[in-house]
Amino acid sequence: MATPNFLLHIPMRRILILALSSLGIIASAWGQRLPDTVAPESYDLTLEPNLAKATFSGDEIIHVTVLKPAVTVTLNAAELQFLEANITSGGASEKATVSLDAAKEQAALTVSKELPAGPADIRIRFTGVLNDQLRGFYLSKSARRRYAATQFEATDARRAFPGFDEPAYKAVFRITLIVDKGDTAISNGKIIADTAGPGDGKHSLRFSPSPKISSYLVAMLVGDFACREGGADGIPIRVCTLPEKEALTGFALEASENILKYYDKYYAIKYPYEKLDLIVIPDFAAGAMENAAAITYRDIYLLIDEKTASYDAKKDVASVIAHEMAHQWFGDLVTMQWWNDIWLNEGFATWMELKPLEAWKPEWNLGQQEIGQTLGALVNDSLPTVRTIRADAETPADIVALFDGIAYGKAASVLRMVEAYVGAEVFEAGVNAYLAKHAYRNATAEDFWTQLTETSGKPVDKIMQSFTEQPGAPLVTVQSACRGDRTEVMLRQERYYSDAAKLAAASSELWPIPVNLLPSATRQPTFHLLTKREETFNLPGCSAWVYANAGSRGYYRSSYDPAAFAKMASQIESTFSPEERVRIPNDAWALVQVGRMNIGNYLDLLRNMQGERSRQVVQEMIGNLRDIHDKFVAEADRPAFEKWVRDLLKPLASDLGEAPVAGEPAERQALRADLLEVLAGPGRDPELVAKARGVVEQYMKAPESVDAALAKSSLLVAARNGDAGLYDKYIQHLKTAKTPEEYYAYLLALGDFPETELTRRSFALVLSDELKNQDMFVLYFLLANTQTQPVAWGLFKADFPSIWKKLDPSGRIAFAELAGLFCDGKLRDDSQKFFADQKLPGTERILKNAKDKVNACIQVRELQQKNLSAYLEK
Ligand code: BES
Ligand code: ZN
Repeated sequence: MATPNFLLHIPMRRILILALSSLGIIASAWGQRLPDTVAPESYDLTLEPNLAKATFSGDEIIHVTVLKPAVTVTLNAAELQFLEANITSGGASEKATVSLDAAKEQAALTVSKELPAGPADIRIRFTGVLNDQLRGFYLSKSARRRYAATQFEATDARRAFPGFDEPAYKAVFRITLIVDKGDTAISNGKIIADTAGPGDGKHSLRFSPSPKISSYLVAMLVGDFACREGGADGIPIRVCTLPEKEALTGFALEASENILKYYDKYYAIKYPYEKLDLIVIPDFAAGAMENAAAITYRDIYLLIDEKTASYDAKKDVASVIAHEMAHQWFGDLVTMQWWNDIWLNEGFATWMELKPLEAWKPEWNLGQQEIGQTLGALVNDSLPTVRTIRADAETPADIVALFDGIAYGKAASVLRMVEAYVGAEVFEAGVNAYLAKHAYRNATAEDFWTQLTETSGKPVDKIMQSFTEQPGAPLVTVQSACRGDRTEVMLRQERYYSDAAKLAAASSELWPIPVNLLPSATRQPTFHLLTKREETFNLPGCSAWVYANAGSRGYYRSSYDPAAFAKMASQIESTFSPEERVRIPNDAWALVQVGRMNIGNYLDLLRNMQGERSRQVVQEMIGNLRDIHDKFVAEADRPAFEKWVRDLLKPLASDLGEAPVAGEPAERQALRADLLEVLAGPGRDPELVAKARGVVEQYMKAPESVDAALAKSSLLVAARNGDAGLYDKYIQHLKTAKTPEEYYAYLLALGDFPETELTRRSFALVLSDELKNQDMFVLYFLLANTQTQPVAWGLFKADFPSIWKKLDPSGRIAFAELAGLFCDGKLRDDSQKFFADQKLPGTERILKNAKDKVNACIQVRELQQKNLSAYLEK
């Protein structure tokens, strides 16, 4: 889907994932791994934060095994002051000299007497700063008070305590937190002792020892959290937040209880920790983080007001919870050996997150949403400069760059294809065997696919290797011919590029692709493994067409000769599943983009789908209309296109009616909101513009009286047609919003106001203290509006130094992504040059991808604008 404005969650998640890319001190690409001489067994770790002074002090004993006799033990540590270090071995204790290497984020502890192989204890006392960078041990603030929180993934545990901060060094953590008397603390274990002191006004909370976990999964949170308590399968579950927000925790609790029960069954291993806490942190760089048994969230992804929340907000919260809970087994219990396999960790959780929800809320139709994930990944993977799933990473900067759409979306989609090919039960059995074998330890991607190959008896290893080691995704071209009582299907594969010239040139990639063929004669789908450039298969029955992605789980696009496609298109509503009906126009659009299909045929296909009522399919149908309207259609043809949009959606609109009907399904209500946005947007329907304004007035007066989805759409429409008076009101409501959903509904609509003076005010807001650093991604929305884009871009450049200062280290690389929002040569060149001049480390690939994206957009206009005129004239 090309429209970023519909749903908060689509762009936000993408941005967040990108915004995670953090760059620390740039260190040399080698020598950052710890030497393999000493391994930790357990940590006794005591931390005492001082919220008022924003500092902390720590005292730890790391119980280690010396693997090779050594005089030096090398640990990770960053931005910590060592007060004292001792190493005890064989009954003798010696003070160690500490030498810090800031660039490598390491500390070398040296003693004079060689440590023999065997057990030793390292005792370190240290201090640090509770930073404002949302990583390591950091300071977070609500309007009322301060909190201390941790965010360690990927390489920031070393900012909270010296240790072996690599995922393969799993250890037991015995944590004690010393906090103010009135405060509490949350960590990976349960509180097993609460004693007064040390010192006045303090108490010490001792947590039960963790099982063996990697350092990046340790969590420590300090403040006045209030928790709602529940449980499932004997595991106590709590949803915790600021006390004033406690009323918003019910939905998350119910979701997590259902999800835990589902995973206990699916994984065939009981939830591996003794409790589960889900905690909102007032300032949070990522969306959520899967710390073992203490999952942390930004507020929008956990808090729901059940009376007012939109359907999408609930789905979002539930799927983020399901994602992080999926990691408790896949990631936390079994962890990647090294960060180069983080794609499997994130891809798996992304693939898994919808499963427990499909079971819990079948009416959410998440099967179709799953396909949405795959389609998003395919768009990303069509860029000529896209990376491969598998990539090496040594330094912290390299590692964070791996948390991108390829690791999440593509990896999840490849798993989805493999699952469809081997069968869901076989896939599950393979996952179970893999987890059982490596529980409490580490594993590699090879371990995973070797197991699946063994369990399934199918060449999963070959498929996974080829999709993870080659960039891009295949386009399968289908030619079928009826030969008496059978049908001959010729399949040909090539790499799909969004760049027409690249696509026309031969590509070298070749994948083993499980193609699920659906012949019109029998309607019986069967898998065929396409391993060559070109291969012919025979199917029983005489078929007029053969669809090559039955079930729509394949990670490839497919195309047909025009006659076969026309037949399929004419039967699309009667013949294909919703999953396939999402896919068919999406694949068609990919062909339009490169000029292999006339946009007129695409628009005709949409007209064939006027009877469509499934929301996900309708979203796909309307997903490109805004881009066509704003970017591709000639100025003079715009009114004709607007009328075409109105005509297309008339039957659906009159079927849905203007107002919600009591008792109707939530999906129908949400669809009405989607429709309002298109009809008033690229449809320019004046009545609906007026209606949206009315909804906004009502929402401002009594938010609980308006469906939140309708309110969100209306806020965008009204903004697009709004002036300074309305803008002022949005700003007012930002300050009084009662739920995160309400807050972001106003915030993200600011970018849609058409007056450049208001764009200016939005940039001022972004730089002020009014906007939290964690919400800087709103810049994406300010720059996405094509109408105000040139002005916004100018402001962005002028304000860049101040913007840069406000970004936490994790937000910085992501901003090169903004260079991909344009659709014209001048802004492309200017933004490329601007970002390149900033010399932001780690942004090279992102900038290249961004340029590809802009070029693809320009190309559509060049290839299709005339076709569009001709079509609209008819
Ligand atoms: N492990 C990640 C969070 C993370 C990513 C932390 C990169 C540090 C660096 C977590 O499991 C995750 O994927 N969070 C997503 C939300 C998810 C539902 C897509 C996020 O933060 O956007
Ligand atoms: Zn994740």
